[in-house]
Amino acid sequence: MTRPAVSDPNPTWWRQAAVYQIYPRSFADTTGDGLGDLPGVTAHMNYLSALGIDAIWLSPFYPSALADGGYDVDDYRDVDPRLGTLADFDALVAAAHDAGIRVIVDIVPNHSSDRHAWFQAALAAAPGSPERARYHFLDGLGADGELPPSDWISHFGGGAWTRVIEQRGPNAGRPGQWYLHLFAKEQPDFNWDNPEVREDFHTTLRFWADRGVDGFRVDVAHALAKDMALPLRSKTILDIEVDDGTDPLFDRDAVHDIFAGWRRVLNEYDPPKAAVAEAWVPFTNRRLKYARPTELGQAFNFDLLQAPFDAVEFRAIAEKCLVEADASGASSTWVFSNHDVVRHPSRYAVDGVSTREEMEAWLMSGGTVPPADLERGLRRARAATLFMLGLPGSAYLFQGEELGLFEVADLPEDALADPTWFRSNHRVKGRDGCRVPLPWDATAANFGFGGPPWLPQPDWFAHKAASVQDGAAGSTLEMYRAALSWRRKLQAEESLAWVSEPAATVSRYRRPNGWEVITNFGKAPAALPSDVVLAKVVLSSGEPAASLIPGETTYWLAP
Ligand code: NOJ
Repeated sequence: MTRPAVSDPNPTWWRQAAVYQIYPRSFADTTGDGLGDLPGVTAHMNYLSALGIDAIWLSPFYPSALADGGYDVDDYRDVDPRLGTLADFDALVAAAHDAGIRVIVDIVPNHSSDRHAWFQAALAAAPGSPERARYHFLDGLGADGELPPSDWISHFGGGAWTRVIEQRGPNAGRPGQWYLHLFAKEQPDFNWDNPEVREDFHTTLRFWADRGVDGFRVDVAHALAKDMALPLRSKTILDIEVDDGTDPLFDRDAVHDIFAGWRRVLNEYDPPKAAVAEAWVPFTNRRLKYARPTELGQAFNFDLLQAPFDAVEFRAIAEKCLVEADASGASSTWVFSNHDVVRHPSRYAVDGVSTREEMEAWLMSGGTVPPADLERGLRRARAATLFMLGLPGSAYLFQGEELGLFEVADLPEDALADPTWFRSNHRVKGRDGCRVPLPWDATAANFGFGGPPWLPQPDWFAHKAASVQDGAAGSTLEMYRAALSWRRKLQAEESLAWVSEPAATVSRYRRPNGWEVITNFGKAPAALPSDVVLAKVVLSSGEPAASLIPGETTYWLAP
């Protein structure tokens, strides 16, 4: 399907967009070095266009030592030379816009990398200097400052403070201050109370907006404002513990002032640039604040991603999120997979595994304990995806989910690159299993990805490659293409009505123009509602059957 180039100034394009996340290093490699690159994205613009998405979101492609897969940024206003150049970026944006696809880039404001010029300057400067004031440097506790300033712990394991060897002043050459990093030690946290930091991120937003990007995904948006008043408060859990804005690290009220400033910058453009907050805030009343029109405009909600495959849960989440989005003036977001979580066909394949810890243990077993029923996992994932793609709001898809990829749960340990693996002393494998470079061509070397990929591809990728699914009736790729194409017809208005069903395992909703989505979450087939005519089923996640809806299947019905 050809769509018009991006030239219309529709300021609300994002409200019901299908956004496809590209993890550039794992998408397509044109140089043969085993790392995906920006020209690789441009080269696949026809594929993206045929898929029917409205926008791509590029995970970080900035210069980086890859201590955290690029979320450790050396320079916010450049391209990693291994991934291309700024000219390649411009070519990518131009090609995307020609294909009617908008471009969202990832902004990582909570922390830079330890190679960032500002952090290097901070290390070289003395305690108390303006250079140090862009980050959180503090003296340690204990007689000799040998203890970290607080008991805070970091994501990926270990403490959240690292002590530096001073280069200046009376302590030169000796251990001195500590700096804060909520993630790996290569990711020092910025001090957002410092106006220089605020101004510099405005410059970064304008830099990419001036290059034509249409929006921004904001990494760890809820962590920027911190309570650094001394003595630091104790906090040994890396989650939000209170829902009133008084947690020392997350979701503090002051963060909204920062994003109000960002909105003013984003509104300098016509149409205004879109933005979506990655804010793992469980309290919906607080999460919606990030999505206000005076702030970022949208916030991810990961509720469906975290829910079991269950009719009652899915419906309750959809209802709640739509009300919540409405209240904030935003539209809802929906996500099943991204670069941080086990791919959803695998999640749904292992019964009795739902918490993060259980999932981590399953990964550590190489995906064998408990055993995964992959056929069932994919069946459920396809049904869940069609349930979700019919909802009003924005659907965020992760590269490879349109191929029905499973998690590569048995990556060899010596291939793992996620800091989680190292910082947990090899107790938690981390997120590499969803980041394995894509299989494009079943018969080509490295499945058509490019050079020998930075994470090894499993043999079963041959059955999942785009080349074998392209044009194949019933393939997951064709299901996504059909759904994304029909989806445009569903979107006349941003609402839905639930139609009650006798079976608790079946959910059914109707969009205002008469399109309907019916999902049987149960394992057993369910009778089709008497008013449903099978001839109206234009799309099914499984094989449709006369007078019933098979187990773990979604139907889309035309009016
Ligand atoms: C969230 C990103 O999605 C994740 O990949 C990254 O490790 C952390 N933020 C730190 O930037």
